[in-house]
Amino acid sequence: MTSAGSLEPDGQKRIAGEAAAALIESGQVVGLGTGSTAAHFVRALAARNIDIRGVPTSEATAALARELGLIVIGVDEVSVIDITVDGADEIGPELELIKGGGGALLREKLVWEASRRCVVIADAGKAVKRLGAFPLPVEVAAFAYKGTSRRICDVLADADIAMVPKLRKQGGEPFRTDGGNLIYDIDCGAIADPWALAEALKGVTGVVDHGLFLGLADLALIGGADGRVTELLP
Ligand code: A5P
Repeated sequence: MTSAGSLEPDGQKRIAGEAAAALIESGQVVGLGTGSTAAHFVRALAARNIDIRGVPTSEATAALARELGLIVIGVDEVSVIDITVDGADEIGPELELIKGGGGALLREKLVWEASRRCVVIADAGKAVKRLGAFPLPVEVAAFAYKGTSRRICDVLADADIAMVPKLRKQGGEPFRTDGGNLIYDIDCGAIADPWALAEALKGVTGVVDHGLFLGLADLALIGGADGRVTELLP
């Protein structure tokens, strides 16, 4: 706390992660998200010292989980994941999400879709009235990525979004996902119809996936500056 009742965003992420860890039951297969909030969850889960198997959504999370002594398995080693806990970049009123700011969106979505229950955890700053202030990540195949960008522009124009996708870079080089793909970040502004945009982007040859997670989250746990965790349902 910086002053009475003023928990910093990282503290808000921590209490959300701890609240999510308290939901996990012994014997469960647990999807482990990626990012700073998910890392708080993984630490809190490891601290509970219960018998779980974790399915990580990135190499970074796999490394953290192993370091903390958790059992790590691959997504295809089980037919179903009991519960997945992950962060988000934006959370809309019906728990529609933008994810992928950390570059793990495809593996995250694959794990989410294999899960019976998905819990999103975040600091209060992630809750928004409408998605789009956070640039939407779109993962594309590296082969012919410039042509894919042009086709994405056509889709954006149809959605009245006049924005050129920006290739994500790291250390001056194109950022590579764990799967070796590239990411375009798209500064959409308020997204009028996330479902239509999601469908249109999926129809673009070369797009592997996008950061719109719609109809997937079952519960949001939002850490507040007052030190309380608020539960939101879709
Ligand atoms: C990782 O690719 C993302 O989807 C993260 O879940 C998202 O960027 C949230 O990250 P933080 O928890 O670090 O804010």
